[in-house]
Amino acid sequence: MSAVSSSDLITRYGGNLPRYTSYPTAASFTEAVGSAQAEAWLKAVPEEQQLSLYFHVPFCDELCRFCGCNTSVMRRDDGRAAYGDLLREELRRVVALVGTQRLVRHVQFGGGTPSTLPATALRQIMRSVRGMFHVEHGAELSMELDPRHVPEGYPALLGELGFTRISVGVQDLNEQVQEACGRHQSFEQTQACLSAMRGAGISGVNIDLIYGLPYQTEDSVAETVRQIASLRPDRLAVFGYAHIPWKQKRQRLIPEASLPGPAERLAQRARMDTVLKAEGYVAIGLDHYALPNDALVKAAAAGTLRRNFQGYTTDSASALIGMGASAISMLPGGYSQNITTVAPYARALADSEGLPVARGVARTPEDHLRGNLIERLMCDMGVDLAQFESLNTVFTPEREALTSFVEDGLITLEGSKVQITERGRPFVRNVAALFDTHRKALAQAAGNGVESPRFSRAI
Ligand SMILES: C[S@@+](CC[C@H](N)C(=O)[O-])C[C@H]1O[C@@H](n2cnc3c(N)ncnc32)[C@H](O)[C@@H]1O
Repeated sequence: MSAVSSSDLITRYGGNLPRYTSYPTAASFTEAVGSAQAEAWLKAVPEEQQLSLYFHVPFCDELCRFCGCNTSVMRRDDGRAAYGDLLREELRRVVALVGTQRLVRHVQFGGGTPSTLPATALRQIMRSVRGMFHVEHGAELSMELDPRHVPEGYPALLGELGFTRISVGVQDLNEQVQEACGRHQSFEQTQACLSAMRGAGISGVNIDLIYGLPYQTEDSVAETVRQIASLRPDRLAVFGYAHIPWKQKRQRLIPEASLPGPAERLAQRARMDTVLKAEGYVAIGLDHYALPNDALVKAAAAGTLRRNFQGYTTDSASALIGMGASAISMLPGGYSQNITTVAPYARALADSEGLPVARGVARTPEDHLRGNLIERLMCDMGVDLAQFESLNTVFTPEREALTSFVEDGLITLEGSKVQITERGRPFVRNVAALFDTHRKALAQAAGNGVESPRFSRAI
């Protein structure tokens, strides 16, 4: 075991990094990819390939100060219903390109808070989905929810429509932390949400927690985790707070001095890990936990776990079609992202017959290769480099750079086999970044005066 201290690790590896939910990452998206390109990629998805669908709803009932997502408050019911119509219009255009009755195993509603969709709008969307696709029996249908704002009748509605999983935000239960985040949510509210959903037959429950939030301490996060584990969600995500006030203005309301520093963040993460393992959860990838009999754990053990824009998943579809403002599609040809804000997204749908795409990036064969390697690393916490090397691709500089990770006890390297150690788990993105040639190109461009993208901190 290496004797290197946590503060040394932070100095060496504490920079800002992408979360590698895609490769190339969103930082490489440009306007060179527009609707014509995205439409060609959709048309080219082979007929026998299954599809996954993602609907993005960028509305919330109230805004949380810590939130890094693109969200707004839409109070009017007719505005919420009109957005549902836009989603169905985009779906119709997608189906015109990929054809009807394609096999679908995953349908996700994310946001924002998708339960801001009125019941009628959600019913209509799901009727269209089931009418236009072959949604397999046992398919995973999931929705992100805010436990403080579950509309009357929504648990029964989700149950009736065949939803199988919910993902709810908690972040932290401590009063002072909640006050600083502008999100007051009692343990009882979360508990009531879960029991209503479980009562409606929805058994899959994911809970999101965050460390690194204002005023959090090791003890406070441990207490939150203990209480939340008592609700026995089958999955938990434990994210590091991404402080990006240059991009998300509402985060400027959080005083910098209230934020835990990198060493404290690392310690908080470690305490949450210890408590969750003691509560019977298994660590998965960078930031997920699940009960031992959960499909994510089984997929992780079998080497079939996947990572996409929604995080870790058992979804093996190679085409994930994102609909709604700012939604990203992951297609064999490349990634495309819709127009970010609602009004121009709506205008694009009204003004043309095309898809409301704003930007994206094509994936070359080398991107596929490096992307697969990075995905395996992020999912399996290890990778055999020899399986990705060929006459054209030899990872000589990458292998050299791995040496310091071995010396610091973050990985083991036996021949071509890289294995992330438990100590190295928080630093898996640093290892992945070694194989990211786009990041190097972007950094080089920045050196030449081109503005570089800014990510949140890795630790
Ligand atoms: C898109 S949000 C939806 C949450 C849901 N609407 C709710 O109110 O519970 C999904 C998750 O992103 C995570 N998240 C949002 N902003 C974040 C930030 N700045 N840093 C880290 N995680 C963040 C939170 O854990 C949140 O639960």
